[in-house]
Amino acid sequence: MPTLLIKNIKTLVQAETAPRSLVKGAEMAALPVLHDAYLLAKDGRIHSFGPMPECPETADTVIDASGRMVFPSWCDSHTHIVFAASREEEFVSRIRGLSYEEIAQQGGGILNSARRLQAASEDELFEGAWKRLQEVISYGTGAIEIKSGYGLSLESELKMLRVIRRLKAVSPIPIKATFLGAHAVPAEYKERREDYISLIIKEMLPAVVAENLADYCDVFCDQGFFTVEETGRILDAAAQHGLKAKIHANELGYTGGVQAGIAAGAISVDHLEYTGDAEIEALLQSDTLPTLLPSCAFFLGIPYAPARRMIDAGLPVVLATDFNPGSSPSGRMSLVVALACIKMKMLPEEAIQAATLNGARAMEMEDTHGSIAPGKAASFFITQPMPSLAYLPYAFGTDLVETIVLNGQVWSASDSNK
Ligand code: NIG
Ligand code: FE
Repeated sequence: MPTLLIKNIKTLVQAETAPRSLVKGAEMAALPVLHDAYLLAKDGRIHSFGPMPECPETADTVIDASGRMVFPSWCDSHTHIVFAASREEEFVSRIRGLSYEEIAQQGGGILNSARRLQAASEDELFEGAWKRLQEVISYGTGAIEIKSGYGLSLESELKMLRVIRRLKAVSPIPIKATFLGAHAVPAEYKERREDYISLIIKEMLPAVVAENLADYCDVFCDQGFFTVEETGRILDAAAQHGLKAKIHANELGYTGGVQAGIAAGAISVDHLEYTGDAEIEALLQSDTLPTLLPSCAFFLGIPYAPARRMIDAGLPVVLATDFNPGSSPSGRMSLVVALACIKMKMLPEEAIQAATLNGARAMEMEDTHGSIAPGKAASFFITQPMPSLAYLPYAFGTDLVETIVLNGQVWSASDSNK
C-alpha cells in the first residue's frame, strides 16, 4: 500500500471529517480549513489529516509543502471539450459588433462547430479532446463532465459520445458524459424542427442508451434554441431511458428554462445569467443546483448571473468553466473562481466551495471528490507559496498550481503521453 505524506501545509483547504454532500447559503462562507497541517494518502485515497504536531514520521513519498496550501482538485461540472476547431473568427465578429445570437442566426455558432465536427474523424476528435483534458488537469481539475452537442446527427452525436467513452477509459480523472443532441436545430431542419425533436427522442436517445454512452441528458432551453415545451418532452423521454437531466437555461433570457429543468428533476440548471425572484424561489423549493459559468458571461459580454442574491437567498451555488470554442474558450477553474469573486461578488471561500464540493455534487461525485475527507480520492493540488487564501482569486492571472496529485500519485503531463 503506497503512502504519500504532505507535511508542513500552511493551509489545508476544504478539509472535513464529517463529509457534507453540498453546501448552501450562509454556510458557503464557512470553508473548513486547517493551518499548519499534514495530509496522508494511502493506496490512492485520503487516509488522514491533522495538525503538524501529530504528523506521522514517514511515508513512501514525502512532500514538504512549507508556505504552500493544499486544495481538493477542482470539480468542473460543465464542459464541451470535444470539438473540432476553434472559433476566433466569430470572436472578431463580436468585437466588430455582432451578438452571439446574431452569429448563431447566420449559421455560425454551434452550427459552425457542428459542420467542423461532422467532417472530423473520431481519432482526430479524440486527440484534440485528450490534449484539452490534460491541459485542464494541469490547472488543477480532478473531475469533469463533458457534453456532446456538436454532432447534431445520429452518427455524429454517437461519434462524440464514443470519444468521451475513450477519454473515460484512459483519463486519470473521473468523467461524466452528457448527451446534448438538443444543442441547436440543424440548418436542414430549420423549417421542420419537430422532425429534429423526433429524431432526438426516437433515434438518438435509444441509440445512446443502448451503447450506454451517457450519464445525463442536456437541452439548450433558451431564446432561439429549444422551448420549454420541447425541453419537457426531450427530458421526459430521457427520464424514461433512465437518464437524469442537466440543462442549459436562462443564458439569453427569462424563458422559463430554470423552471423546466426543475420540473424534470434536473441535477442542475446551468448558466442562469437571466435569473429573477421567480427562478430563485423555484430553485429554493427544489433539489436542482444552480450552476454558474462566469467565464462565458465574461467572454460574451453578457450579464453575470446574480450569484450574491442566490447565496443570500440560501441556494447552493456551483461554478464551472463551460469550456467550449464559442462562448468560453478556457478551461481554467482558477479563473472562474477569480471571476466569481471579482464580477459576482462571491467571497473567495464561497467560490472555492462552489468549485469543489458543489461541483462534485453537480456530477453526483460528492462521495469521492470535492473535499479533503478520509476515504475520498487523494486528488488535490499544492499551490506555490501563498500569503493567504484570498490570494488565489486576487492574483487572477498567475498560475498558482505547483504540484498535482491524482489518486495519491504525483501527476505530470508527460505521464499521460507515455
Ligand atoms: O454553454 N449555450 C449553449 N452552449 C454553449 C456554447 C456553445 C457554443 O457556442 O459552441 C454554452 O455556452
Ligand atoms: Fe455549455
